[in-house]
Amino acid sequence: MKYSIPFLISIIFLMSCNQQKKEPTGSTKLNNNNAFANVNDRAWWKEAVVYQIYPRSFKDSDGDGIGDLKGLTGKLDYVKSLGVDIVWLNPIYGSPNADNGYDISNYDDIMKEFGTMADFDVLLAQMHKRGLKLVMDLVVNHCSDEHEWFKQARSSRTNKYRNYFHWWPAERGKPAFRPGSFEVDGSGWRYDTLTNSYYLHYFSYKQPDLNWENPELRKEIYAMMNRWFKKGVDGFRMDVIPVIAKDTSFPVITQKELDEKYGGGWFTYFASTPAVHTYLQEMNKEVLSKYDIMTLAEGAGTTKATAMNFVDPDRHELDMSYHFEGVDIGYEKGAYKKMNPNWSLPEFKNVYSAWDSVFANKGWGTIYLGNHDQPRMVTRWGNDAPEFRDASSKMLTTFLLSMRGTPYYYYGDELGMTNIKFDKIEDYRDIEMMAEYGKVKNAGGDLKAFLETQKNGGARDNGRTPMQWDSLANAGFTTGIPWLKVNDNKNVINVAAAEKNANSTLHYFRKMIKLRKDNIDLLVYGKYTLLDAPNADVYAYTRETDKQKVLVLLNFKNKIAVFDKGKMQLGNEMINNMQNLKIEGTKVMLQPYQACIVKLN
Ligand code: GLC
Repeated sequence: MKYSIPFLISIIFLMSCNQQKKEPTGSTKLNNNNAFANVNDRAWWKEAVVYQIYPRSFKDSDGDGIGDLKGLTGKLDYVKSLGVDIVWLNPIYGSPNADNGYDISNYDDIMKEFGTMADFDVLLAQMHKRGLKLVMDLVVNHCSDEHEWFKQARSSRTNKYRNYFHWWPAERGKPAFRPGSFEVDGSGWRYDTLTNSYYLHYFSYKQPDLNWENPELRKEIYAMMNRWFKKGVDGFRMDVIPVIAKDTSFPVITQKELDEKYGGGWFTYFASTPAVHTYLQEMNKEVLSKYDIMTLAEGAGTTKATAMNFVDPDRHELDMSYHFEGVDIGYEKGAYKKMNPNWSLPEFKNVYSAWDSVFANKGWGTIYLGNHDQPRMVTRWGNDAPEFRDASSKMLTTFLLSMRGTPYYYYGDELGMTNIKFDKIEDYRDIEMMAEYGKVKNAGGDLKAFLETQKNGGARDNGRTPMQWDSLANAGFTTGIPWLKVNDNKNVINVAAAEKNANSTLHYFRKMIKLRKDNIDLLVYGKYTLLDAPNADVYAYTRETDKQKVLVLLNFKNKIAVFDKGKMQLGNEMINNMQNLKIEGTKVMLQPYQACIVKLN
């Protein structure tokens, strides 16, 4: 379906103490000169490395096959050992799990499969004890159709909660088309017999959109956020937050208008309603400004032109946003997350360079290559063949941790976990995949060919398989039957094996974090400059302060690739995923997937 949101998204966070607003840590101003392009005050969340944990897949403590909070608490020493500072946890609230927790039925409860509020309190206390911060997922564009608000709202047109949602009375005829991502028929409206009305759901019919125009709803959300902050959580990642504000007159929009006004994207249209900034400023005033926390927008539909509006410190909205331009590269048009194996490295470089420049002087960027909505980074941007998996994982880790902006690193990527590449639809669990499969089926498409495209493509379950702790049954994730199959490569790719191997991707990740932490001025705040933009194989850039300059060389290909250093005088290597750096005259000969950071004299 042409208008599917995930397609566009893809192509398109008690006990310790109540937190009070504090001055940013170490608020030293950086020198305002050309070497330091970003002159913002320092902040802990700029200097941090975020580790994203999909709780359903991290560690099961009770044998029901589903990861849980006790399981995660038991693995905090591992998390701490990585050197990361913040954990972003996908939703853990009460939920019937139509979309694995992104359909919340109770914002003040913990999902049964994940444990209890007492388990959460222990988790948070144990994290804080180790100096780890916890960022929760805030899902407030929609809730679950099993939330009390919605149950009440659908009971009668005059119910107090009716106006918490978007309704279209059927006597007005059928509402204008709006996309519903996770629906086989593609529609974002569902007819509800009881009150003879349609309700809006941009995702599945199990996820009715909340009406942010209603001040009562906004008050409830802010109160809920304040309750979590008072418990001591350290921030929120905000799910599809630009989408909360929409044109609720629901006019008919033609594809031509979408193309001309919004660059073809429903998400750009959803996100473009200016009210989103009124709501975020209000949220900042009512909630965010009161605590020393961090916020991250899932910047669905935001562009280089609009992203600053969300994170400009003078506007008092959010701290960071993540864009989709990078993770959209290489998906073939008109097909669901089908990856073109010949995706263009120059395009990749252009996108990341252009986004760096958006935040060069103000605001703050983020950098990520994978998350719970994306396939595994090594399969997609590296090479998961046994001979290249290790090197290419390290190369991608070098990229993520040597760019400006806060790195978001997805659980398991430190091991080089790969796409699982299911053969059968029965192995998949994801609501989005089910809908896409249903669309192909209804259109009489080639289902086998479709499944084949997802092996190296974007099916979300590729990135959601259980964490591989060891080579034993179910990779040490569960003693039960895992909710999603464990990758067979657990025998080779697992924490226990990686801990024992001094050259593993895991140890490289720790080394690279240490390098970033030891060089905050340079690798966090330093100026970024792209070199040799047209080079189809090598991503080369410099990072610099007024005192130091380094060259980052990344070979993205499975062959020897050349970078011409010209007159640059290479000094000591800071890190190298291989033994040597081969130089012939002015030519640096990079081994397949070689990554190196070298000082410039
Ligand atoms: C975001 C989440 C995704 C979820 C969707 C609906 O894109 O990252 O996992 O399915 O929103 O909440």
